[in-house]
Amino acid sequence: MTTDEAIAFEAAHCAHNYHPLPVVISEGEGAWVTDVEGRRYLDMLSAYSAINFGHRHPALVRAAKEQLDRITLTSRAFHNDRLGQFCSDLARLARHDAVLPMNSGAEGVETAIKVARKWGYERKGVAADEAEIIVCAGNFHGRTTTIISFSDDPLARRGFGPFTPGFRTVPFGDIGALEAAINDRTVAFLVEPIQGEAGVVLPPPGFLQAARDLCSGRGVLFVADEIQSGLGRAGALFACDLVGVQPDIRILGKALGGGILPVSAITADWDVLGVLKPGEHGSTFGGNPLAAAVGIAVVSLLESDGLPERSHRLGARVLDTLRGASLPGVKEIRGSGLWWAVELDGTGRTGRDVSLDLLTRGILAKDTHTWTIRFAPPLTISEPDLAHALATITDVLTTPPRLR
Ligand SMILES: Cc1ncc(COP(=O)(O)O)c(C=O)c1O
Repeated sequence: MTTDEAIAFEAAHCAHNYHPLPVVISEGEGAWVTDVEGRRYLDMLSAYSAINFGHRHPALVRAAKEQLDRITLTSRAFHNDRLGQFCSDLARLARHDAVLPMNSGAEGVETAIKVARKWGYERKGVAADEAEIIVCAGNFHGRTTTIISFSDDPLARRGFGPFTPGFRTVPFGDIGALEAAINDRTVAFLVEPIQGEAGVVLPPPGFLQAARDLCSGRGVLFVADEIQSGLGRAGALFACDLVGVQPDIRILGKALGGGILPVSAITADWDVLGVLKPGEHGSTFGGNPLAAAVGIAVVSLLESDGLPERSHRLGARVLDTLRGASLPGVKEIRGSGLWWAVELDGTGRTGRDVSLDLLTRGILAKDTHTWTIRFAPPLTISEPDLAHALATITDVLTTPPRLR
């Protein structure tokens, strides 16, 4: 099949809930993918940080294959011999007592919301069904009905009401607004330490530490959604580590599944996670032996391969290079670790135009919110490949479209 044929075939049979770039990928290895016509591309998106370790990392594929030959799914009706190890390893990594495994990121967020509410009723004494959770403007936490209830993106919400109550929104980075929004019913502050989908938006210096202190002082759980920012992406194991903040609940996903299968989890201490009793929450696939085996290998990689430090070192170089280049039409370059965004000034090409231009030059990246292009290469990308990507990005941004 050609690219056009494959796209038409998919469009005829698959719901149109995405607007992908016109490339049909059939193979991948490390930072590179190949399309159905044999063209190669450098993957500078990494499935929104789910491919932090590159495509088909040998240690992760090996762990999955070994587990495929033993057992893949038991449900939680029975124990399996991989889950305990996975939870023990991930809890150690997250510096928490325990783990609750799920599958998609949105399920992880839903789990954190339920645990925070239950904690609020049982431990804080909030009146039944009165719990409030504070969230930030510009957030992206997933697509379930409850999660879009506190999104401020019209596209995510329009046509999907009625919405779940119990959420209050404050501007991202505004500590005064957060303080003013906390009341006796507040059980949690849910925040992306760096907003990914919004376009790699960093909070003002000191915000996360001040929010942490405020939560501790007012008896509110600090819940960090590190689904996109965590596991090395932002230049530390967790983005919260960059500012020395330990959340009460961490939500992880994406790269936790090693790019092989969906694995998410929340981590917390027993005084929080202990509020859940048998039958109150679960998932048929959450904590399945295949997911757990891959998760164990992911934690092991993160503990041994120096990837967070590498992300920090190479990310600093990326920002220096791009900020040092004279890029017409660019309003801002921002980022943390191997995770950055180029925000255009809104006068010329859109983010999608630039992503399409990059595609023709063999670089995969994706626009977000019209004027921003987000980059997140595998943390394992070689230095020559990264240099090649930066040279191409700079060239595409500097060359007027008509000359290409
Ligand atoms: C910060 C954050 N939270 C939650 C999610 C939802 O994850 P999933 O798409 O696996 O449901 C995403 C996905 O992009 C995300 O970036």
